[in-house]
Amino acid sequence: MDKQAILEKQRTYLWPNYLLYYTDPLPLERGEGLYVWDVEGRRYLDFFAGILTTSVGHRHPKVTERVKEQVDKIVHTSTLYPHENTVNLAEKLAEIAPGRLQQSFFTNSGTEANETAIMLAKVYTGQQEVIALRHGYSGRSALAMSLTGISSWRIGGTQVPGIKHAPNAYCYRCPLKLSYPQCGVACAYALEDVIKTSTSGKIAAVLVEPIQGVGGFVTPPPEYFKIVEEITHHYGGLLIVDEVQTGFGRTGTYWFGIEHWDVEPDIMTMAKGIANGFPLGNTMTRPEIAEAMPQAGLTISTFGGNPVSSIAALATIEVLQEEADPGHVAEVGSHLRKGLDALWEKYPVIGEVRGKGLMQGVELVKDRESKEPAPDAVNMLFEETKARGLLIGKGGAYGNVVRVAPPLTATKAHVEEALEILDEAFARVQEAFS
Ligand SMILES: Cc1ncc(COP(=O)(O)O)c(C=O)c1O
Repeated sequence: MDKQAILEKQRTYLWPNYLLYYTDPLPLERGEGLYVWDVEGRRYLDFFAGILTTSVGHRHPKVTERVKEQVDKIVHTSTLYPHENTVNLAEKLAEIAPGRLQQSFFTNSGTEANETAIMLAKVYTGQQEVIALRHGYSGRSALAMSLTGISSWRIGGTQVPGIKHAPNAYCYRCPLKLSYPQCGVACAYALEDVIKTSTSGKIAAVLVEPIQGVGGFVTPPPEYFKIVEEITHHYGGLLIVDEVQTGFGRTGTYWFGIEHWDVEPDIMTMAKGIANGFPLGNTMTRPEIAEAMPQAGLTISTFGGNPVSSIAALATIEVLQEEADPGHVAEVGSHLRKGLDALWEKYPVIGEVRGKGLMQGVELVKDRESKEPAPDAVNMLFEETKARGLLIGKGGAYGNVVRVAPPLTATKAHVEEALEILDEAFARVQEAFS
């Protein structure tokens, strides 16, 4: 089908609120490794990986082969019948997950993984109130939108009661108007004020992302999560760590983002990069916490952890271990970071570069003094990079953060190729915004 026909049907038969990148939306047809092709045969270097999801690149032969084998055997069983792939995947996850996290509950998306985490925390603690962070993103259900801390993603004013938001550790735009490190990480201690003033004083959970993804790759300072963990436990809550974007080595050095802060989650959620594009969500915890569930009632997930998604996840993790482990990501990520820092030196439209591993954010501003967000500059950068054959992502509460997050199998050569295009595109954007 040609491009115009696809776009016409999109307009006619899909809801108009689909968020489509680019002035002229881009229907993709196929992918291979780090590259994708549109329906007109144009090739793009994919530095957004389907929103940080194709962790081992498009159409990785090992993932494809194992999925095809599984499709030929059985596609669906439901969670009523145990399956070899699902239990093997759960075992593999227990091997790489931090601390004592051992047991999994599989669903189909990050939203459901977070829903399941909140349900578990409420059941285990017997408490109802939950704290999330401003600028966080938790998904698209009523509960997940209520946990989300960015107004544009909270459709319809849907409010699940009992959720409060604490300030995040957004040092570039400190919510408390302080500067790190003189601030003494006051934003972390502000969590205690929120619990003391806006809840009954007893909480079920605090939910955090190690690096806020949709929020614009906001990366807290080293002391932050230890303080948050201590306060959470002091008030009887469980610490839920959402690794939907940061999991599976994305941040380099460790398999999960929170390990950079040396904190052990009580509950950890994951999705996106777990199965290279096959739908799978997971909520992990310690056996003594999961133990609270059977007495609480019944819950199933019809598709959750189905044999096909599970084998895709197992193959994805094996490929990561063989070809793109967290050490590889740290190395290629630091190459990317050096290149982006060099662009920061060159182009004042770049206010800040931040992130870890292959999860790097570039915040664009009108000028470095006022730090006024420049979403228009991001939009122009999008068109300029697309025209040169590079796909990137965007985010941030003000729509002014470029998200650079290629498949984890990216090499330094891929990074060089992306940096060259970014350099040319930023030159145009800087000229237009000076
Ligand atoms: C940190 C985080 N949590 C949860 C979600 C929701 O995941 P899904 O879109 O798979 O429901 C997302 C999606 O972007 C996310 O970034």
